[in-house]
Amino acid sequence: MSAPAYKIIDHTYDTVVVGAGGSGLRATMGAAEAGLKTACITKVFPTRSHTVAAQGGIAASLCNNTPDHWTWHMYDTVKGSDWLGDQDAIEYMVREAPQAVYELEHAGVPFSRNQDGTIYQRPFGGHMQNMGEGPPVQRTCAAADRTGHAMLHALYQQSLKYAADFYIEYFAIDLIMEGGKCVGVIALCLDDGSIHRFRSQAVVLATGGYGRCYFTATSAHTCTGDGGGMVLRAGLPMQDMEFVQFHPTGIYGAGVLITEGARGEGGYLTNSEGERFMERYAPSAKDLASRDVVSRSMAMEIREGRGVGPDKDHIYLHLDHIDPKVLAERLPGITESGKIFAGVDLTRQPLPVVPTVHYNMGGIPTNYHGEVVTIGADGNPETVVPGLFAVGEAACVSVHGANRLGSNSLIDLVVFGRATGHRLKELLEPGAKQPELPKDSADLALTRLDHFRYAKGGSPTAEVRVEMQRTMSQHAAVFRTDELMVEGKAKLAATYKRMKDIHVSDKGLIWNSDLVETMELDNLISQATVTLHGAQNRKESRGAHAHEDFPNRDDANWMKHTAAWFDGWGGKGGEVRIDYRPVHEYTLTDDVEYIKPKARVY
Ligand code: FUM
Repeated sequence: MSAPAYKIIDHTYDTVVVGAGGSGLRATMGAAEAGLKTACITKVFPTRSHTVAAQGGIAASLCNNTPDHWTWHMYDTVKGSDWLGDQDAIEYMVREAPQAVYELEHAGVPFSRNQDGTIYQRPFGGHMQNMGEGPPVQRTCAAADRTGHAMLHALYQQSLKYAADFYIEYFAIDLIMEGGKCVGVIALCLDDGSIHRFRSQAVVLATGGYGRCYFTATSAHTCTGDGGGMVLRAGLPMQDMEFVQFHPTGIYGAGVLITEGARGEGGYLTNSEGERFMERYAPSAKDLASRDVVSRSMAMEIREGRGVGPDKDHIYLHLDHIDPKVLAERLPGITESGKIFAGVDLTRQPLPVVPTVHYNMGGIPTNYHGEVVTIGADGNPETVVPGLFAVGEAACVSVHGANRLGSNSLIDLVVFGRATGHRLKELLEPGAKQPELPKDSADLALTRLDHFRYAKGGSPTAEVRVEMQRTMSQHAAVFRTDELMVEGKAKLAATYKRMKDIHVSDKGLIWNSDLVETMELDNLISQATVTLHGAQNRKESRGAHAHEDFPNRDDANWMKHTAAWFDGWGGKGGEVRIDYRPVHEYTLTDDVEYIKPKARVY
């Protein structure tokens, strides 16, 4: 393959971080603070990254509003993950969590406060006191219902104080790999169409999830899993992609997020009979059961004809019994969203909601240092890919296993963003001389860019994208059957073939959103494909993967991580290969014992 001729602007850094959401900014800060020459490449302005949309809060056992302990947080996270989470990584996260939150407080995050001045913490689904026994714990630290927004602004401001270089509105196209090692990344400057080659000792992928492979999602339109796409093209696997989280309360029709904090503050769900049906499904935790449980219960109610609205296809969320002053103080954002996106005054009317795609538990496999891992040629499932790191929703550490608890995402971002910074400091020498890049370093990226730029087929990008999204929404939803998934795989393979016939109208390079959306679609469709293949392959129900032909969890056969490879890009190949990595059935220290699997009831 010889690359088409494009002028390339070269840069050399110790570390390049791709993505400027919570995890990317935290990793950027850590690397720069360690004296490493650091670049952060981001396709949107940092404070527009999707972390800005996180609402309800960040989990840490601060004990401000109720008693709590890090071992309780660990227990809930393991149980929430349906025992697919790696317990060494989970221990690391929950133990580091309080410190990470105090660090954010000192960085300027304007957390809501208790009367005594401490950070306000609210209940969230699946978070309990006393090793799961209950009652619910108040563990989720909140800045009203705009916690992600507050965090992102504080982290960006902090990042500016370190000498990191920001490449804003640059789209990362592909990694530069040499002999199994990552040695840089190629990016397109959206503004002027110039091509940039970043040589670096390490690349950190902090590119977020790929929620946009579904038709309706709480994820921003920018959530196209660009890091995952790059990883698959580099011949590396993605992990546990079959586990897609549906948030119980997306606004019906619009998909806009209504925070779980709404139920944390006392909100509840009802069906067409006015029944608080969660009492039947989760007698103890009720509306504050774990997200997969609540979403499935809502789907069951709708399926059994007890949905609300003319088509009986959604559910009501009630906040109309809560003091309007409390809503104004603690949930101002969703009060506004209710008005704008559903025309509902939350103080008087119930809000129409429906389970909506929200988060990818799966992602780029890493260890708790943020290092990307794969199954090596010798079969070692913990083989580190030198020079490559991943953090945040792009990564699968795996602390969330088969189902993430609400507010464990923001803590994951900062804890593992910080851990990655520490690892980079340990491994890299600031300013170390780097070898020349191989001659073909830009070939993959530029061949792909050029291929799509001049694509003259008969299938417009938007048409192919919506076909993929509809297939995912129909065939990889809350409930799955083998028949449905086999059919979905065939439909998606046909859609993938249309990538060969794609049509890009704008042939320019300056702010060519047609071209960038096509490369994003290429990233999405490879991950959609491994998601459906992984789902059809997993013959059990666990966490967010509810397989109706196999309704029970099967620890004997399926207590393992799926690793899935995808062959090709742009309609080429498209085969999926699946292997497995073991779940870490051990803790990080002797301070806590391995939490043995048991039935998961709320
Ligand atoms: O419901 C929410 O506020 C979302 C939080 C999360 O996904 O962690």
